[in-house]
Amino acid sequence: MKRRSLLLAGALSGLAAATSSCSSEWEGPKGSAFSNRLRIPPLAEPEPAADGAKQFSLDLLAGGRAEILPGLTTRTWGINGPYLGPTVRVNRGDRVRMAVTNRLGEVTTLHWHGMRLPARMDGGPHQTIEPGATWRPEWTIEQPAATTWFHPHLHGTTAMHVYRGLAGLLLIDDPDGPALPSTYGVDDLPLIIQDKRFGADGALNTGDVDGGTFGFLGNRILVNGTFGPSLEVRSELVRFRLLNASNARVYRVGFADGRRFQVIATDAGLLERPVTVERVKISPGERAEIVVRFTAGEEAVLDSRGEDPKRANDIEEEDFTLLKLVAAGALAESALLPDELGGVPAEPPPAGARRRRFVLTGSEINGNDMDMTRIDEVVPAGAHEIWEIHNTTYAHNFHIHEAPFRVLDINGTPPPAYQRGPKDTVFIPKNAKVRLAATFGAHIDPLSPYMYHCHILRHEDKGMVGQFVVVRPGTENQVSRTLPQGHHQH
Ligand code: C2O
Ligand code: CU
Ligand code: CU
Repeated sequence: MKRRSLLLAGALSGLAAATSSCSSEWEGPKGSAFSNRLRIPPLAEPEPAADGAKQFSLDLLAGGRAEILPGLTTRTWGINGPYLGPTVRVNRGDRVRMAVTNRLGEVTTLHWHGMRLPARMDGGPHQTIEPGATWRPEWTIEQPAATTWFHPHLHGTTAMHVYRGLAGLLLIDDPDGPALPSTYGVDDLPLIIQDKRFGADGALNTGDVDGGTFGFLGNRILVNGTFGPSLEVRSELVRFRLLNASNARVYRVGFADGRRFQVIATDAGLLERPVTVERVKISPGERAEIVVRFTAGEEAVLDSRGEDPKRANDIEEEDFTLLKLVAAGALAESALLPDELGGVPAEPPPAGARRRRFVLTGSEINGNDMDMTRIDEVVPAGAHEIWEIHNTTYAHNFHIHEAPFRVLDINGTPPPAYQRGPKDTVFIPKNAKVRLAATFGAHIDPLSPYMYHCHILRHEDKGMVGQFVVVRPGTENQVSRTLPQGHHQH
């Protein structure tokens, strides 16, 4: 115990001024004052490249100063700015080239969550970026329109790096897709939801980021880094891209007045058709795109409500207000949402699809902790597989890199209609059995693993992570299950 705190103190010495974990808590309002205008992350400008690729520079910065609470300065981390990152927006078919420069003063990685790409470009724990170094992954966007995101993924420090502020959105548009609200910042708005704790001086209180059953659980909500946010909407239909970028909390997002709205997309892309709901549930790492109708001059409050008051202390049961929306006195007319969104229908997994079973315990998968030198699963390129997740303990969730999936059933029952779209992360309730139908891609590399893991960041850091490689079909038994120690790829 002692030894660990000394080690931690060493590792964090440069940050002592930036955080507090024991000073008194900030006691301001819970956030229902809505006195701050919702910040919209700026769009990243691509730099031109001779070959037509879109190049983006992302600088990972420590030492940000953000006024999050009234009159107080919070020391934060960010990407190209003090807190969070810019929004990267690209088209299906684009060649994308990134320059990710680590200015944090400590090693990290940057992972493209929800992206189908070669494992060496994935930004997982093997693609470390040393302090001062620039990592230059590039790939072609070969997947449908979706709301994806990026965040650090270094084994053991993901929770802290994300909590301090390293996360951003990467939106994929499909030029051949349906007509949807898509004017960024006007009728197409990101909502990055995170819980925090603050010290009386405004410092981010890192509390249990590295401890407790679930790790960090905050008592104040930020949306796009804004505390107590409000936003004026100016068109009849507004598309919100919800991202749960919290360390552990699960939100059930809807409106205080119970109004219904339409879900148009899940993590990995559009649904076949809009699904009307009152609430959407998103666990850490999950996204949902919703479209909401407004009438001129009205106000509406977006909030999160638990389902079961008897379980008030669970990570999915706390109530929060998120954002006040104020509709302008005159709203721009919006085209009706199309009945067909063009999302690919879920195909039943082929007969004989390989099944793999993953048993989740407190912080292990199939009895194992993360081992960066061990390949846990070998998957033939292009495979359709059924992955069965059996949770034997408290709530977890499950994310698979590279391979979008459909949720077949949860304890034998199909998920609600709005969760039947393409996904890459799914909530796994306590003691539940969840079956996923996953489709693996064609980027063959027996030496570079992708990850699957619980996206509750404390669990991920503790080692609730497995590694799989995608190999040429028929060679599954020939590839090595062990990677050389300290095997890193840049
Ligand atoms: Cu959002 Cu493996 O991560
Ligand atoms: Cu991921
Ligand atoms: Cu977990």
